[in-house]
Amino acid sequence: QLQDDYTLMEQVTRFFQHQLRQNGNSKKAIDYLKNRGLSGDIVKQWEIGYAPDGWSALLDTFGKSPQQIKQLIDLRLVNKNDQGRTYDFFRDRIMFPIRDKRGRVVGFGGRVLEDGGPKYLNSPETRIFHKGNELFGFYSARQQNRQLDTVVVVEGYMDVVALSQFDINIATAALGTATTLEHIQMLVRATSHIVCCYDGDRAGREAAWRALENALPALKDGVRLSFLFLPDGEDPDTMVRQVGKDTFLGMLNEAMPLSRFFFENLLKSHNVGTPEGKIALKKAAMPLIESTLGADQKNMLLEELAKHTGE
Ligand code: CTP
Ligand code: MN
Ligand code: MN
Ligand code: MN
Ligand code: MN
Repeated sequence: QLQDDYTLMEQVTRFFQHQLRQNGNSKKAIDYLKNRGLSGDIVKQWEIGYAPDGWSALLDTFGKSPQQIKQLIDLRLVNKNDQGRTYDFFRDRIMFPIRDKRGRVVGFGGRVLEDGGPKYLNSPETRIFHKGNELFGFYSARQQNRQLDTVVVVEGYMDVVALSQFDINIATAALGTATTLEHIQMLVRATSHIVCCYDGDRAGREAAWRALENALPALKDGVRLSFLFLPDGEDPDTMVRQVGKDTFLGMLNEAMPLSRFFFENLLKSHNVGTPEGKIALKKAAMPLIESTLGADQKNMLLEELAKHTGE
């Protein structure tokens, strides 16, 4: 009997959760989560599980007929190699189910327990999973807040989960991709303040600028976009564990407004002390400003630009 894709994904989520308790490697997996500072409640709340270290745990459980095996392959839970051999896609990993905005499990993220190999493995694109449209934690954040005044966009699963352990239930993560226009479109429908809070490293700072570029075409008036830059080497997970809930919320509150990040970043590469520099700044800024959706937002950036170019 073939089930609907979402029902199967739900059952696979339960299977991974069950394996976290029952598998021969349970202790190793649970110790890992404990060492990351996660409480049992939080692990349960996020339905975190464990994909067994074998080649056919899922296959043996859910692939009882050729049609079922095909469905597992279609959902990319099972791989098929050139020789036609089938095997589980996720093995010996901590599993995070990814729910879409309607709450359906559409994919998984899997983390290795020991360092080595790719740290995170995400479900590849499938007929129900389109990475650029999904935000881990978004469904949960909407469930837990009648009104989402602020949404924090972070890089990783662990960042979302750690923040929620500190009772900050407003975080969501893009899935190892850039924050896309589609992500921002989803967010502007749900909140009036988006704070991008990426890792305090070079990659994080670059991701912030890319997010800004991608966000402008969706940034309607009435929605604020801010950026929280963490100290080098920190991410929201390590940060909140260091400073606690109240300080972290204070940091969010004081995040850098779009206009400031916009010009601080452009002024790094353009010296407006010279006429040439002013023209170059204008050249770099104008396409971005033009791409901005909200008329007020656009005018604000234009006025700031005029200040810098002295017009
Ligand atoms: N990511 C990914 N593939 C990788 C590395 C990262 O998809 N090979 C995505 C994951 O969604 C991850 C996020 O990018 O959660 C953040 O990556 P990174 O900062 O490198 O993760 P860490 O914070 O180091 O992860 P952890 O805290 O679990 O060690
Ligand atoms: Mn797609
Ligand atoms: Mn990082
Ligand atoms: Mn981390
Ligand atoms: Mn990180």
